[in-house]
Amino acid sequence: MEHINNYINEHKDRFINELIELLKIPSISADPAYKADVLNCAEAVAKAMKDAGADNIEICETAGYPIVYCEKIIDKNMPTVLVYGHYDVQPADPLELWTSGPFDPVIKKTDIHPEGAIFARGSCDDKGQFYMHVKAFELMMKTDSLPCNVKFMIEGEEEVGSDNLGAFVKENKERLKCDTILISDTGIIANDTPSITTGLKGLSYLEVEVTGPNRDLHSGLYGGAVANPINILCEMIAKMKDKNNHIIIPGFYDNVLELSQKERADIARAPFSLDRYKSALDLSDIHGEEGYSTMERTGIRPTLDVNGIWGGYTGEGAKTVIPSKAFAKISMRLVPNQSDEEITEKFTEFFESIAPKSVKVKVMPHHGGEPYVSPTDMPAYQAASKAMEKTYGKIPVPVRSGGSIPIVALFEAELGVKSILMGFGLDSDAIHSPNEHYGIFNYLKGIETIPHFYANYAKALNAKQ
Ligand code: BES
Ligand code: MN
Ligand code: MN
Repeated sequence: MEHINNYINEHKDRFINELIELLKIPSISADPAYKADVLNCAEAVAKAMKDAGADNIEICETAGYPIVYCEKIIDKNMPTVLVYGHYDVQPADPLELWTSGPFDPVIKKTDIHPEGAIFARGSCDDKGQFYMHVKAFELMMKTDSLPCNVKFMIEGEEEVGSDNLGAFVKENKERLKCDTILISDTGIIANDTPSITTGLKGLSYLEVEVTGPNRDLHSGLYGGAVANPINILCEMIAKMKDKNNHIIIPGFYDNVLELSQKERADIARAPFSLDRYKSALDLSDIHGEEGYSTMERTGIRPTLDVNGIWGGYTGEGAKTVIPSKAFAKISMRLVPNQSDEEITEKFTEFFESIAPKSVKVKVMPHHGGEPYVSPTDMPAYQAASKAMEKTYGKIPVPVRSGGSIPIVALFEAELGVKSILMGFGLDSDAIHSPNEHYGIFNYLKGIETIPHFYANYAKALNAKQ
């Protein structure tokens, strides 16, 4: 397998420069002002696939942003790997907190990334990570070492809930037929501690609106005599958890799968330093559900968080006012056996039941998604584990993530195929935050590891046939 490192050494500068060009495109799916950029980005991805040697490249229109599909079928009887990723990115704000422009990629050294990291929105989530697959594919094509069939599906709406991908998958089951799905859109524990994500959380995301009086009022003339919707909303949010940070929406935990002592012991074996965790976030203490460790809170326990809250006067100076309305965006992260629909319903019922008569409330569901778990005894996991063991010199640790990629559960339901989440980012890479970055080490390590995955996987499946 010497050809892998030789090819990377010869071409790494170009690999980095190509990613930098892709990162210059502000493909923000959430903001309609960037529509042309998102569409340009799809074109750029299609061109990159063509240059890498893919066939049947198509920019597939959807009701939203297009999906870039392509493939390389070397032999219909061989196994097929489907690669999924997303070319859209999160909005870049707050812009003033970036030390360089979010779409002017620059390489800077950090303590964690002494070889340098590319700073740009989307560098880690997910352009830098799906592009590793494009370059690993190029490597296998150019060195005549692609051992099985490969299909690529790179979408442009992941950061806004993949609303149109479900329909695409349902309509293209034959085209998407595969033996495993390979995704790099998650992370590892540290650059000297590889890990593979074995679970993703589901998501129920909703917006609430509390209405008091029919107009904003003078807070002296009316204050104390009518409901202030912001005060009421805060009280209602405070009623969602008890003093142990246990969520008290009736039935919220009904279907939660409790883990066995053995499974909890496995989680506790993954390397984790609470001191480092706190200092990385400038926290003097952590906060969470009583009775569970930090890894358990993020990995296996469902959570509820307010993502945004607004209403009333927030401009310069003071304005004495009782607002007519208050709003909040609330998300709940779900674990196996909970469903988005079930939890959204339970939340709505509870929220309406605790609203005093002095206000009116509305609950509006946004996007959601189901949780996912992947077993460690399937051939694709073993292939990924052996690939990382080869390139990192250590067996990767299985870890359940607190993040969500809702389409992964849908792939399983519609295609009957499990996904393998072999990501290379770090939690400190600041995805969705100002100064997102992706280590050059991580990028090149990913390109190096992926061909090993293909070789291991093809070998394991061919042996079975
Ligand atoms: N790549 C992330 C999810 C992720 C990151 C999972 C790190 C595990 C580790 C993805 O792009 C994302 O941001 N997902 C959203 C959900 C989506 C519906 C907007 C999330 O988790 O908030
Ligand atoms: Mn992502
Ligand atoms: Mn994301």
